[in-house]
Order: sequence, then structure tokens, then C-alpha cells
Amino acid sequence: MPAHLRPFHPSDLPALYRICLLTGDAGSDATSLYRDPDLLGHLYAGPYPLADPSLTFVVVDAYGVGGYVVATADTLAFQRWCEQHWWPTIRGEHPPVGDPRDGTRDHQLLHEVHAAPAPVEAYDSYPAHLHIDLLPHLQGQGWGRTLITTLAEALRRRGVPGVQLGVSEANQNAIAFYGRLGFSEVARHPWGRTLGLRL
Ligand SMILES: CC(C)(COP(=O)(O)OP(=O)(O)OC[C@H]1O[C@@H](n2cnc3c(N)ncnc32)[C@H](O)[C@@H]1OP(=O)(O)O)[C@@H](O)C(=O)NCCC(=O)NCCS
Repeated sequence: MPAHLRPFHPSDLPALYRICLLTGDAGSDATSLYRDPDLLGHLYAGPYPLADPSLTFVVVDAYGVGGYVVATADTLAFQRWCEQHWWPTIRGEHPPVGDPRDGTRDHQLLHEVHAAPAPVEAYDSYPAHLHIDLLPHLQGQGWGRTLITTLAEALRRRGVPGVQLGVSEANQNAIAFYGRLGFSEVARHPWGRTLGLRL
């Protein structure tokens, strides 16, 4: 089966979690960094297609789902949805923990899980936000561009003025990719950059 893009189907959820972990260390495999393999997905993949399935698109080939873009059209509304429908159960079942000093990073993600929603930068210009990940065998073939273009078209049809994302400074490949696609810098942080694309 040649690789192709299609809208999200609920059966894609395990693959989204898997891909999120396999690309979760600034683009590289994060498996060895987490005791709980689902934490990254709980933060950066799972809630998006549940809150709004029509803004998730996947790339599928003979090996199965190998890439995705997930998004929300309205970050503040999404945060409210998560506070109501997503975080209560996950917080209840994943208490915060201290640093076990063995190199694992669950404690950092659990801090985010239990934190209040972060303030949204430049919300009026970029109310939407996204996360995109492709497994290595699907990278460098135009699928990233195709996923962003497809999502941008869906957001445009809804009248959304712009989409933003956060990228780690360690992920220079992704920073170059977003620059090539026309994203510009919205803000700089100790951890990386917020980039935005006007739609
Ligand atoms: C970052 C990522 C989404 C890019 O997707 P991709 O399919 O590899 O990129 P594409 O092949 O669609 O590239 C699109 C354009 O960006 C350019 N580009 C991509 N990576 C680049 C790089 N490292 N340096 C310079 N340009 C780059 C391509 O040359 C291409 O240009 P063109 O279309 O004008 O010819 C993908 O590599 C990925 O999932 N990486 C691992 C996970 C990750 O880092 N996710 C982002 C977290 S913020």
C-alpha cells in the first residue's frame, strides 16, 4: 500500500501515542526517557482528536499509521475542554512524583499534567495550535508539508487567522522545516521557540 494521507479514525489512537513517544526527544526516540510510555501522548497527542477529530490527519503506509498532525482551532476553548474532560481522570491516576535521579523524565511531564493551563501567546493572531510527528521512514518525502498544508486548509475553511506551535531549541531539523513552510518566530523561551503561521 503506497503511503497516503487520510482523516483520523478512532483506531489510530494507539499509533498516535506510539509515534509521539518514538519522536518525543526533540525528534528522536524518547522510549528510554520515560517509565510510563503513555505520558507524552496524554499531553501532546491523545486529547486533540478526542476534542476535535476533524483537525487530526494521519499518514498511513504498509506498516500502518506512521505520522500525524493533531490540532485545535481554538487553544483557549481546548484548554477548557481538557480541564473538564481530559485532565481530571489523568491527574487522578497519575500523581506527581519527584525526580528519581535515574535519567528518566516522567516527573517533568507529570509537573505539566498537574499544572494550570499555560497562558496563550498571541492568541488573537494565532488561536490554533498543532503538533506534528512522522516516523523516520516517512520523513524527508514531503509528508510533513502535506500534513501542514491539509491542516492549514481545514483551519482556513473555519476562518481561523493563524496557527502556532512550540518547538525545542534542540530540534533544529524541525525549526528548519517550519521556517521553510513560512512559520515565523512569535516568542523565544529558555526551552525553545513559539512559531506562528498566518493563514
Ligand atoms: C519535522 C518533520 C515534521 C518534517 O516533516 P518531513 O516530512 O520530514 O518534511 P518535508 O519532507 O515535508 O519537508 C518540507 C520542506 O521542509 C524542508 N526541510 C525539512 N527538514 C529540513 C531540515 N532539517 N533542514 C532544512 N530544510 C528542511 C524540506 O527540504 C522541504 O522543503 P521543500 O518542500 O520546499 O522542498 C518530520 O521530520 C518529523 O516528524 N520529525 C520528527 C518529529 C519532530 O521533530 N516533530 C516536530 C516536533 S516540534
